Amino acid sequence: MQPQTAPLAPSPDIDAASGSFAADLARGLAATPKRLAPKYFYDAVGSALFEDITELPEYYPTRTEVEILTTHAADIAALVPAGAALVEFGSGSSTKVRLLLSHLRDLSAYVPVDISRDFLEEAAQALRADVPGLTVLPVAADFTQPFALPDAVWGRPLVGFFPGSTIGNFDPEDARRFLANAKDTLGAGAHMVVGVDLVKDPRVLHAAYNDAAGVTARFNLNLLHRANRELGTDFDVAAFSHRAVFNAPASRIEMHLVSRRPQVVHLNGRTFSFAEGENLHTESSYKYTAAGFTELAESAGWTSQAVLTDPAGLFSVHILAG
Ligand code: SAH
Ligand code: AVI
Repeated sequence: MQPQTAPLAPSPDIDAASGSFAADLARGLAATPKRLAPKYFYDAVGSALFEDITELPEYYPTRTEVEILTTHAADIAALVPAGAALVEFGSGSSTKVRLLLSHLRDLSAYVPVDISRDFLEEAAQALRADVPGLTVLPVAADFTQPFALPDAVWGRPLVGFFPGSTIGNFDPEDARRFLANAKDTLGAGAHMVVGVDLVKDPRVLHAAYNDAAGVTARFNLNLLHRANRELGTDFDVAAFSHRAVFNAPASRIEMHLVSRRPQVVHLNGRTFSFAEGENLHTESSYKYTAAGFTELAESAGWTSQAVLTDPAGLFSVHILAG
């Protein structure tokens, strides 16, 4: 991200990003162990599958964070100064911001930022239709790279909103870097509201990422369908299985795709071999203690103002002050 006070870089053209998808996939398939960044889950199909995940009985994070945001909506909205713009990172369906909007007075703009361009545009249209008078300025961008905010928010106070525990999909050092960049972007005196999933009984975590209906498996496997569709790879998707395990020492759920048979995959003239049982690591979802995330945010230059949790202590919403 760019500091708002610096000349803004042109947004990288994420529609032309199949080059980086291809390059990242080639790099990840050549690595040991094989890996790919979770941002590639989110084409239109992946975004829709994530929405289905949020409704699963086993996937507690969404309904728990909604409960916390609903309880504290007025207090959170009070952090947003008159005339401010609210910038949401990884906005998806823009469902959670709706909980805050009725409490927000004089918001100059809502800026949803997401890598999934078509899904973002649809969510923005739906929000404009449902909340007349709200200025919605979507930005299709990869928030791990520098990107420009809309000219219309130039000089406005900015407040960051990063729900969903998407920050948990970064390794902690990348999370720290993201938070430090966000602080520069949002400017002095800003606030940021961050949803963070908490450490808990591994059986609850296991169920949340291995749902009985198999939706999370479809979400994971869509990565291979997406590569076959967009990059012309020849993954035999039917020969891969979804695997999600809790890595306790690292405090993270890991999602993998496991090749059940030896296979060779072609990508832009290169070949990559999978042994029987070999993994492609597709996502880490870190689970923090409230104190652990507070320490991380403070090491990125933020001051922790409040940590909001549900009664069962499943999920946390951190209020950070710049
Ligand atoms: N905020 C929503 C959605 C969370 S799912 C909620 O709380 O339910 C994660 C979202 O982040 C998806 O919409 C995905 O497209 C987006 N995303 C993931 N990686 C991204 C990246 N590098 N840049 C921009 N958006 C990203
Ligand atoms: C978006 N992100 C925080 C989700 C998570 O829980 O890590 C993505 C997800 N992966 C599997 N299920 C949901």
